[in-house]
Amino acid sequence: MSQRVCIAIDGPAGAGKSTVAKLVAHRLGLLYIDTGAMYRAVTLKALRRGVDLNDAAALTELARATNIQLIPGVRQTVLLDGEDVTEAIRSPEVTRCVSVVAGVAGVREILVDRQRQMAGETDVIMDGRDIGTVVLPHATAKFFLTASAEERARRRAKEMAEKGYTVDITGLIKEIQERDYRDSHRKVSPLVPAADAVILDSSGMTVDEVVNRIISWLEKNQ
Ligand code: DC
Repeated sequence: MSQRVCIAIDGPAGAGKSTVAKLVAHRLGLLYIDTGAMYRAVTLKALRRGVDLNDAAALTELARATNIQLIPGVRQTVLLDGEDVTEAIRSPEVTRCVSVVAGVAGVREILVDRQRQMAGETDVIMDGRDIGTVVLPHATAKFFLTASAEERARRRAKEMAEKGYTVDITGLIKEIQERDYRDSHRKVSPLVPAADAVILDSSGMTVDEVVNRIISWLEKNQ
């Protein structure tokens, strides 16, 4: 039996992981798994139920009793206990609170187990923060996709401008730098590249260039 293909893409928020991972998945016929969406789904449920976000035991119980399904498609659909929450998990409130929920060791244990299970069932490309270090330490290939805080802020500002919002770019850069610091210094599964990850800085690169770089690396090294 041939071994399953599992590709890990980690990196900070706004580096373009999900866009790149989806395109690589499409080109190579892999299932794309957005692990951030799973943390977001648990966060949404906690907020709706008024669970105290400082209560790690309650959050862990909640995660255990939650069913999350990721349905592949042009736009991955996220089902939380059967309900389509694809849009709802991207709300500013969920975005603000998710790092607290993702910092709870018990919640991580449960979601990591489910992520490993998914990777055991089919060939996948999984994006997140700890895929190459914790979830799939034996991944076929690991990429750590990053970009400067300035570049990520510019991309985010462009996205928001397209939605009709005006943003203060200096404030955005500061917010991104603070979040990077929090993510890379947290106690459980901090955001760090795996020792054997290929580091890709996408500053100044187009999405297609990043995708092509990953695919040619895979062709040369697999
Ligand atoms: O990639 P994203 O913005 O949707 O991730 C949402 C949050 O979940 C973010 O705070 C980082 C966290 N996360 C994590 O800790 N581990 C993962 N594997 C994926 C996301």
